[in-house]
Amino acid sequence: MSAPDALPLGIEIRPLQSDDVDAVVAIETEAFTTPWQADTFASLIDRDGVELIVMVEESGLVIGYAVVWCILDQGELANLALSPVRRGAGLGSHLLRHVVDVAAGRGVQKLFLEVRASNKRAIDLYTRFGFEDVGLRRAYYDNPREDARVMLMAVG
Ligand SMILES: CC(C)(COP(=O)(O)OP(=O)(O)OC[C@H]1O[C@@H](n2cnc3c(N)ncnc32)[C@H](O)[C@@H]1OP(=O)(O)O)[C@@H](O)C(=O)NCCC(=O)NCCS
Repeated sequence: MSAPDALPLGIEIRPLQSDDVDAVVAIETEAFTTPWQADTFASLIDRDGVELIVMVEESGLVIGYAVVWCILDQGELANLALSPVRRGAGLGSHLLRHVVDVAAGRGVQKLFLEVRASNKRAIDLYTRFGFEDVGLRRAYYDNPREDARVMLMAVG
C-alpha cells in the first residue's frame, strides 16, 4: 500500500516556513489550472487546524508540498503536489505517508480528499493507500470543467 520505509538520502519532509512559499507556488502553478496564490499559503501558516508540509532536497530546494485541514476527527487533504521532474519515483508516496501520519497524530480518523476524475496517477496513489470512493461532485472543477471524485481513508 505505501512507500518504502526510509526517505531517499538527502530528502527531508518538514513544516512549511514562510521562505518556502514562492517555491511552493511555483509547483502549485505548474500542477493546477486554478492555483492558490502566495498570500493564501502565507495566510495558512500557523493557522489552527492546518498542516502545511514541504518535501525538501539536501540543497534546500522545495520539491513537493501538501496541505491538510484537521478538524476534530476529520481531515481533508486539500493539496498535494511534487515538482514535475520528481514525479514517478515514489516520492509522492512518501509525502502522502507523512500526511497520513501527521493527520493521525492530530486525532484524525477519517481523511477525505477530492481529486479530478481524470487524474489517474493521483487516484492510483490514493487507492494504493486505501482511499475509497465515497462520492462524486459533478462539474466541481473548472479549467477544464470536470467531476471530482471524493475519496475517504480510515486513518489509524
Ligand atoms: C500525484 C503526485 C503527487 C504523485 O506523486 P508521485 O511521486 O508521482 O507518485 P508515486 O509515489 O505513487 O509514484 C508514481 C509512480 O512511481 C512508481 N514508483 C513508486 N516508487 C518508485 C521507486 N522507488 N522508483 C521508481 N518508481 C517508483 C509508482 O509505482 C508509480 O508508478 P505508476 O505511475 O506507473 O503507477 C504527482 O504525480 C503530482 O504532483 N501530480 C500533480 C499534482 C496532482 O495532481 N496532485 C494531486 C491532486 S488531488
